Amino acid sequence: MAKYNKLAGKHIVVIGGTRGIGRGIVEASLESGARVTLAGSSQTSADTAVKSIKAEYHNTNNTTGQHLLGLSCDLSAQDSTESALETLLATAAARNGEVDHVVYTAADSLSLGDLQAVTPATALKAAHMRFLVPVLVGKVVERYFSRAEMKGRGDKSLVLTTGAIASKPAPGWSVIAYFAGGINALTRNLALDLAPVRVNAVEPGIVNTGLWDPGYASLEEREAGLMKMTAGQPVGRPGAVEEVVEAYMYLLRDANATGETVRTRGGQHLV
Ligand SMILES: NC(=O)c1ccc[n+]([C@@H]2O[C@H](COP(=O)([O-])OP(=O)(O)OC[C@H]3O[C@@H](n4cnc5c(N)ncnc54)[C@H](OP(=O)(O)O)[C@@H]3O)[C@@H](O)[C@H]2O)c1
Repeated sequence: MAKYNKLAGKHIVVIGGTRGIGRGIVEASLESGARVTLAGSSQTSADTAVKSIKAEYHNTNNTTGQHLLGLSCDLSAQDSTESALETLLATAAARNGEVDHVVYTAADSLSLGDLQAVTPATALKAAHMRFLVPVLVGKVVERYFSRAEMKGRGDKSLVLTTGAIASKPAPGWSVIAYFAGGINALTRNLALDLAPVRVNAVEPGIVNTGLWDPGYASLEEREAGLMKMTAGQPVGRPGAVEEVVEAYMYLLRDANATGETVRTRGGQHLV
């Protein structure tokens, strides 16, 4: 009997699965034999991601992309966030089977800098995706897994995303650090509120994704900039998506882990 392919046949919804770390989780989940629904901010971005993931796997294993669904879930508007999340889970379940795990990696670009430049408007704007939406994700996921038809259906979990700034302060990052530290506390508390559904978080260091693009004119410039930012760290380069994705896959698989934050930071915390 196979004991370790725990995600085979499970349905994993990745909110923010079109690009970056989320896309890596989608690919790793498909490679683990899971059914996957990825959500992006628009149907166009979700369709584009599905098409390119299917193309990527076409030559190696034609069946890998068979259980991949792409849906739109625009989380930008405060008033409609909860209903958008609810619709996402209901549609994912109707089209791809009951959901087993939800992963939240969606984020807009980092819009805050020096403390003296912070205004109530910029702080509240930055708070939306990193403070309010994770709370609503927890609320909607609790409702989804509490339905009578979900009882006795095995291990269920939610994985949130924070960042290394939560545990390693850096000048100019006070507001983002505040939200990132909050996600760790939210994770622990949601693990009690949602039990027996497990709730965990991943805390990545600097990862080479398009999240950093607004600061750079080209991909080459971004990569050079991230190399410079990480040069003094023990690993000495930014994390790769396929590296940090392992932290999410561990939390999805280990039914004994809840209220945990798994860190993958290239040693950022040591220097
Ligand atoms: N990259 C890093 O160095 C790093 C470090 C620490 C923590 N993190 C955290 O890791 C998580 C993932 O980051 P990443 O680097 O993978 O980011 P990314 O490559 O920029 O991807 C962001 C994802 O969020 C989605 N998204 C953005 N706005 C949205 C909206 N309004 N509604 C719904 N979805 C939306 C995007 O979907 P569309 O394509 O459809 O717009 C995309 O799938 C974030 O929480 C980030 O803060 C990243």
